[in-house]
Amino acid sequence: MTQSLAKIEAGQMLTVSWRSLPVFVLNRTKAQLATLPMVDSRLVDPKSTGASADQQPKYAQNEARSIKPEWLVVIGICTHLGCVPDFVPEIKPEPFDPEWKGGFYCPCHKSRYDLAGRVYQGVPAPKNLPVPPYHFIDDSTIQIGVDPKEAA
Ligand code: FES
Repeated sequence: MTQSLAKIEAGQMLTVSWRSLPVFVLNRTKAQLATLPMVDSRLVDPKSTGASADQQPKYAQNEARSIKPEWLVVIGICTHLGCVPDFVPEIKPEPFDPEWKGGFYCPCHKSRYDLAGRVYQGVPAPKNLPVPPYHFIDDSTIQIGVDPKEAA
């Protein structure tokens, strides 16, 4: 499926449906991107090379888990038991984490993910949120479900 990014402002997230799965498309701000290295030491697999090595295509196996740093595209299904986590983007203390730097929170069993969908330590979810295949058709349009030509 193709999805326009034109109306997703910086800091905003859109949830779209792909193969009946919710896909989160988030336009990360510079401030949000700056939080990623800050939380590395609190994550299960910050580089997605261990338990989460199979949770993204190779072209999204990087700190931001994306093709373009600002655009996060992840399947919004918790890797614990499959709930859809809440988007909690504000960088401020939360009842579930006084050091919260923004991300996704699954209220059912308290799993937490950062703004790259990377799972925190000490929660029941074992892996980072999956990144589906996708590529940019142009600067403001992605196609979900199809790898970039160069990666195919
Ligand atoms: S399904 Fe997300 S924490 Fe259990």
